[in-house]
Amino acid sequence: MDKKRIVEINKIGMIYHTLSGETEAIKNIDFDVYEGEIVGIVGPSGCGKSTLLSIVAGLITPSTGEVLVNGNKVVKPSKDIGYMFQRDHLFEWRTILQNVVLGLEIIGKVDENSYKYAEELLDTYGLGDFKHNYPRQLSGGMRQRAALIRTLIVEPNLLLLDEPFSALDYQTRLAIADEIGIILKKEKKTALLVTHDIAEAISLSDRIIILTNRPATIKNIIKINLTCPEGIRTPLKCREAPEFRYYFNEIWKELDVHV
Ligand SMILES: Nc1ncnc2c1ncn2[C@@H]1O[C@H](COP(=O)(O)OP(=O)(O)O)[C@@H](O)[C@H]1O
Ligand SMILES: [Mg+2]
Repeated sequence: MDKKRIVEINKIGMIYHTLSGETEAIKNIDFDVYEGEIVGIVGPSGCGKSTLLSIVAGLITPSTGEVLVNGNKVVKPSKDIGYMFQRDHLFEWRTILQNVVLGLEIIGKVDENSYKYAEELLDTYGLGDFKHNYPRQLSGGMRQRAALIRTLIVEPNLLLLDEPFSALDYQTRLAIADEIGIILKKEKKTALLVTHDIAEAISLSDRIIILTNRPATIKNIIKINLTCPEGIRTPLKCREAPEFRYYFNEIWKELDVHV
């Protein structure tokens, strides 16, 4: 495989210092992500997943090690890296169109074509009729889609998704995860996706990294190869693949959840 390496995570560790003492959140995490790959990250709650993504995003500095994106050391947030979190962070006083264009405003790239491009993206992804509506007038799933378009409009090289669907109800989550999975593959995006939903991770990812309890270390990396019905690899179709159950059991065992 001589695919281009987009992300290099080199032995990073993170210790938080607080008034009540030290918390070691992640330890010796080391892996690479290649162009066009969607890498899922699963691990127990509180193990350090958001810490890992925040470091890759340049929002916090690791205690040890370094992250390279496109060969450059990450030291602060940049327009090459887009991120999307559990909450959509849409601004309630802006219309959907204005919210989407905000992605470009932040990096100082608004020009006369911006609104046209934003409208095209909204049309393509089924929000054309809602561009002049305010976020509160949209369903949770539509809001997440708008948030994704706002992230995609700046054409980041790398997308970081931190449990982006977890605030949605089950039906909406399935539908929106499917749509967003299709969008990511269509736009050939490289992405890191944190989720606590094993099925979601399998259906969307090319590889899954399983983390241990805190401090998070890499427990295993599983390559996902699904034979999808009718050769259609959409996340929903993937769930019908014969290998799906096998991966599910493997990851479940590895996660070693105690209840
Ligand atoms: N800013 C912070 N200051 C101190 N401790 C933190 C901070 N952020 C996260 N932590 C701690 O680090 C650990 C990992 O947190 P986090 O990365 O949010 O885990 P996850 O996303 O896997 O649930 C937790 O014990 C959490 O309390
Ligand atoms: Mg988290």
